[in-house]
Amino acid sequence: MKKVELKISYEEYDNITELNADDHSLLRSAIESVEKAYAPYSKFEVGAALLLENGEVITGNNQENASYPSGLCAERTAIYYAGSKYPDAKILKIAISASSKNQETSIPIPPCGACRQAISEYEVKQNLPIEIYFMGKVGEVVKSDSLVNLLPFVFKKSVL
Ligand code: THU
Repeated sequence: MKKVELKISYEEYDNITELNADDHSLLRSAIESVEKAYAPYSKFEVGAALLLENGEVITGNNQENASYPSGLCAERTAIYYAGSKYPDAKILKIAISASSKNQETSIPIPPCGACRQAISEYEVKQNLPIEIYFMGKVGEVVKSDSLVNLLPFVFKKSVL
């Protein structure tokens, strides 16, 4: 038996003004997308903004459904749209903002496990790390240089 320890790394920023202008702007796009979320059931609104290598910014937000499992998270709404519209464009960054209607969300909200798996598919496919930025409505921002920090034991196509 051997015990393995994994090291992950990420950066913390006190707020979005600490980011450079381009990253700040991408997170602003995510925050704006929160406003258009359709989340009448959970009242938890999420926005995602993707920067593609062709310069396009693709946004998406969570879309809920009266049949609860039929809804989709913001990150997957955005990434599947990007994948369908620009199948060959690499995804450089993903910015995420989330906000509860019930309380002020001031802690960074990471992507759920299913969205991590979905993002990872594209990171593996394009063989280029995707930078992830996530926050609540206000306050701290977490940045990871790759999805791998959020999902070290990734299930990927090479095992199939
Ligand atoms: N949600 C997202 O959009 N992204 C995540 O990564 C976590 C959860 C949405 C799904 C649902 O509409 C609401 O947040 C509450 O779970």
